Amino acid sequence: MTMHIPEETVDEIRQSNDIVDVIGEYVTLKKQGKNFFGLCPFHGEKTPSFSVTQDKQIFHCFGCGKGGNVFTFLMEIEGFTFYQAVQHLADKKGLSLPEGFQQQQAQGISNEEQMNLKAYEWLTKLYHHLLRHTKEGKQAYQYLLQRGFTDEMIKKFQLGYSPQSRDVIVRFLDKKGFHSQHMVNAGVLTTNDQNQTTDRFRGRVMFPIRNHLGKNVAFGGRTITDQEPKYLNSPESNLFQKGKLLFNFDLARSSIRKNRQAILFEGYMDVISAFQAGITNGVATLGTSITESQARLLNRYADTIIVCYDGDKAGINASYKAARLLHHIGSNVKVTAIPEGLDPDSYIVKYGTDRFQHEIIDASYTYISFLMEYFKKDYNLKLEGDRIQYIEKVIDELALINRPMEREYYAKELATEYELSIETIIQEISNRRKKLGSHQDKHRATSHTKNKPIFKRKSKLLPAFHNAEKQLLTYMLHDVFIAEKVQESLGASFNIDMHKIIVTHLYAFYEEGHDANISQFIERIDNKEIKNHIIELAMETVHSDVSDKEIQDYIRIIKAEHGDKATIRQLQEEQKKAEVQKDFVKAAQIGMEILEIQKKIKNANH
Ligand code: UTP
Ligand code: MN
Repeated sequence: MTMHIPEETVDEIRQSNDIVDVIGEYVTLKKQGKNFFGLCPFHGEKTPSFSVTQDKQIFHCFGCGKGGNVFTFLMEIEGFTFYQAVQHLADKKGLSLPEGFQQQQAQGISNEEQMNLKAYEWLTKLYHHLLRHTKEGKQAYQYLLQRGFTDEMIKKFQLGYSPQSRDVIVRFLDKKGFHSQHMVNAGVLTTNDQNQTTDRFRGRVMFPIRNHLGKNVAFGGRTITDQEPKYLNSPESNLFQKGKLLFNFDLARSSIRKNRQAILFEGYMDVISAFQAGITNGVATLGTSITESQARLLNRYADTIIVCYDGDKAGINASYKAARLLHHIGSNVKVTAIPEGLDPDSYIVKYGTDRFQHEIIDASYTYISFLMEYFKKDYNLKLEGDRIQYIEKVIDELALINRPMEREYYAKELATEYELSIETIIQEISNRRKKLGSHQDKHRATSHTKNKPIFKRKSKLLPAFHNAEKQLLTYMLHDVFIAEKVQESLGASFNIDMHKIIVTHLYAFYEEGHDANISQFIERIDNKEIKNHIIELAMETVHSDVSDKEIQDYIRIIKAEHGDKATIRQLQEEQKKAEVQKDFVKAAQIGMEILEIQKKIKNANH
């Protein structure tokens, strides 16, 4: 795969991008001992089993088994090709790739998509220019100013204007060489009744929508004259999947990671308004409910996610849905309460930044207190019957909390508010927890332990020779001299087929004059299963001062297994021959011998 790029270039790029930094942009990593741990971005989990080893420059997930080096990581998480991953990291460090390679890099997406990206890029510039510097754009510009946006924000978010005229954009795109049918497909042009191609977002303020890499992949166009719909968005496409994208995630990412907190808004306007107010960890869904994939994305970066939706009824109901989902995947959720049915943007405009920060964000409800408030809407708490039902419903929720302290805290709150004895409530909770039973136990094992890595290794006892092979391989991966020693006395005669394959690759790697370098070694292995196996071995600890005796012991155990196996095979053949010759006594004798050897192996292994 690396054929076209010189190995030195790939090496240089790999060496100049520390895997901890690269992965750190996607996963919050905490150092523990020699390794870094975080929540695996490749499978849903609530306790970190994803580890990154800095000195080996590899990652490995003890949960799902994925592993690799810095390139593999980007290929997995971004869907990059190897070329794109290399290019991406080269760009980051300002390194350049040899001529001719550049063309290769865009392989991951289709030509049409590439063209669309190019068109969006041009259009963003054009719309922005029209807003800021032309007469047609004046009204839209005034609109934004009147809504409180500064020039700085208008520039930062590249807000723009698409003129009323029927075909300014049509002509612009045509001049730039974009085919009009393609641009209709891309959702920036449209076809009218007379079958003419016209601009699609006419008379709207344009909000470029960027993916998490900062590339414009869509537009949202807001009316400034009360047209329907309020926002006209680009149609969904491979590049623009509403359920996967979060508005402003690219800009918010570092702030989310730093604060370990994200704020989830409903609207573009809210995000920009908050950003202007200095709250830079805000993102928004794109007019749809938050999906599990978006929730997981946020959860990877943030410990706490604050749902900050509109204060109207629809907003509160949507908050409930979002909070439930986020809680379910293990986030620490909070929910704001914005008074007067305002949305965050209008609250900021009306009451200012400070009050928004202190009275809304800092004062947000915990998940349970939000639920306790939220459930009230279904009951008339003045009626005793309703009141009891309400309390039951809250107790059902409290029973799902796994931390006793937290349970008790809310139980107390409930007791005080409804003049019940705390003992009764605790008793009720515990009854429900018993009923939830084993299911709850499972739940307990995974919840609220977010920062404690518990990775369950397969605890299956392996035969001694298998362990010996694994240990030896681990050493060989770390040390050329050990590998040479093993090559001399064992060659590729490992008993486990996978190990045979790995040593064969490894010998070849060292014979080419490479030093021990796991991250570099796995690059040449195309087969995922083999690659993951190598990573798993490499993750085992090695002692730098392993004795020659230990190595020789492993070799001996592996050879003995060979010997025994060979002997057994030979005896089995003789046994068969004896049976053919109807010498049953002899066959039985041989059978005993085989049993003896098998017993011996078994004993040796335990
Ligand atoms: P809002 O109506 O709350 O919009 O819809 P907003 O962003 O707060 O804008 P202002 O303050 O009214 O100007 C929230 C989000 O829902 C999506 C958009 O993503 C919007 O930001 N939406 C809304 C649409 O996609 N289409 C619509 O017609 C309305
Ligand atoms: Mn709104």
